[in-house]
Amino acid sequence: MSRFIFSALCALFVCSICSTVASASDLAAGKALYESSCAACHKTGLGGAPKLGDKAAWAPRIAQGIEVLVNHADIGFDGKAGSMPAKGGTTLTTAQIGDIVGYMAEQSK
Ligand code: HEC
Repeated sequence: MSRFIFSALCALFVCSICSTVASASDLAAGKALYESSCAACHKTGLGGAPKLGDKAAWAPRIAQGIEVLVNHADIGFDGKAGSMPAKGGTTLTTAQIGDIVGYMAEQSK
């Protein structure tokens, strides 16, 4: 009996990891949040922001790995092109930033 409970708990744990991974790349949520929070700079290239869909601008950034991009978007990043404000100046969560960066990278490769 206790073995059954243990394996049921394991299954639940694995499922919760799966749903965390799935939500880390929620492209639809990322698109909506991008439009409301990030497009002001990333649609036009304001202040040196890499434009959505600009493959040449995004390729070396994407090559750093998605975790690095999410981290830079989350805590802010001063690069050669300009200054990326932490969370784009919003109060979004790191998970939401992850959704947006996933969407931005997907649209730009
Ligand atoms: C005020 C303008 C502005 C806003 C708003 C903004 N960004 Fe940026 N972002 C920048 C600039 C400028 C850079 C380029 C920095 C550099 O590489 O010099 C940048 C770079 C980035 C990068 C690349 C980081 C890297 O390591 O190459 C990511 C990812 C990013 N922004 C995500 C976001 C997300 C997500 C949002 C919305 C929550 C957002 N940005 C909102 C200006 C902005």
